[in-house]
Amino acid sequence: KAEQRATLLEINKLAAQYFYYQLRRESGKTAYGYLLGRGLSEETIRKFGLGYSDKYSDDLYKYLKGKGYSDELLRESGLFNVDERRGMYDKFWNRVIFPIMDVNNRVIGFGGRVMGEGKPKYLNSPETKIFDKSRNLYGLNVARTTRKNYLILCEGYMDVIAMHQAGFTNAVASLGTALTSGHASLVKRYTREVLLLYDSDGAGIRAALRAIPILREAGVTSRVVSLKPWKDPDEFIKNEGAEAFEERLNQATDSFMFRVHVAEQDFAMDAPQGQNQFFERCAQMLLELSDELERNLYIEAIVKEYGRYGVGTEDIRKRVNTLA
Ligand code: GTP
Ligand code: MN
Ligand code: MN
Ligand code: MN
Ligand code: MN
Repeated sequence: KAEQRATLLEINKLAAQYFYYQLRRESGKTAYGYLLGRGLSEETIRKFGLGYSDKYSDDLYKYLKGKGYSDELLRESGLFNVDERRGMYDKFWNRVIFPIMDVNNRVIGFGGRVMGEGKPKYLNSPETKIFDKSRNLYGLNVARTTRKNYLILCEGYMDVIAMHQAGFTNAVASLGTALTSGHASLVKRYTREVLLLYDSDGAGIRAALRAIPILREAGVTSRVVSLKPWKDPDEFIKNEGAEAFEERLNQATDSFMFRVHVAEQDFAMDAPQGQNQFFERCAQMLLELSDELERNLYIEAIVKEYGRYGVGTEDIRKRVNTLA
C-alpha cells in the first residue's frame, strides 16, 4: 500500500539521521576515524550521509519505538533482526553505515561495513517493499545530474564514493548483486554508454562478462577499464590519483574486444592448435553480431591485433561463414 511505503521511507529517513548523528558523537569517533583513514573528507562524508551504528543493539529500535512505530512496520523496514529469545534488535551493530538512496534522493536501504577485518565485511538491508536491489543503483541520485554522456559502473560503495570525491560524479554501483536487466533499463533512462570498472580479480572479470550482454540487450554499449595493478577504483585513485584514473578511462577497451582478450587466455597461443581454437572462438563470437558492418569492423580489429599469427580478414570471414 502507498501509505505503508510512505511510512517505511519515513522510518529509513529517521534511521539515516540517527546513524548520521551517531557518527558525530564521542562514541562515533572510531568510526569517523575509520572513514577519514580511508581517505574520505568531511565534505564527502556529509554528501553521502555516512553514519555509524554503535555498539548497542537496541538503541535504534528504542529510538523508533519512541516515535510510535509498530513492531510490524519496523520488521518490514529490514532494519531489525527478529529472534525468539531476543525479540527484535538492530541489524546494524558497530558498523559504518552507507545509506542507499533512490534516484529521488529517498533513503531506501542501508549498507554497513565492519571497521577493519570481520565477517561479513558488508551487511546490506534485505529487499523490502521500498527496496528493490535489482532496480536501484548506488550513487545514481547524484550521477544522473552530471553532464557526462556515460555512467561508470563499479562494484562497491567505497568505489563510488572515492570516484565522486575525485570528481568522477557519474559513478554508480549495483548493490552487492550482479547486474540485472532491471539495472540495465534504469541505466538506459540516463545514458547509452557505460564504462565497466569492476575489480581486477577473476570475480570482477566474470561480472563484466555477464554485464556486457545484459547492457547490450537494453541498448547500452559498454567498454571495460582495467585498473591493474590495483584492485578497484578506490585503490587506484588512492595510489595513482585522479589524472592517471582519467587516463585509464580514456583507454577503455571495447566490450567485444574485451571478450576476445579474455577468450585468448583459454588457449595455448604458442601452438597452432591453440591458435586455431582461439580463432574458432572468435568466429563464434563474431557470429553473434547480426549487423554485417559491425561484424566486418570487428574482423578488422581482430586481424589488427592477432594478424601476427598469419590470419587475414578473409580467413576469419570464411570461418564465420562455415559456422553460419
Ligand atoms: P572495501 O573493502 O571497503 O574497499 O569494499 P569493496 O567494495 O572493495 O569490497 P568488495 O570488492 O569485496 O565488494 C564489493 C561490494 O560487494 C561491496 O561494496 C558490497 O556491496 C558487496 N559485498 C562485499 N562483501 C560483502 C559481504 O560480505 N556481504 C554482502 N552482502 N555484500 C558484500
Ligand atoms: Mn545500535
Ligand atoms: Mn570484489
Ligand atoms: Mn575496495
Ligand atoms: Mn573491491
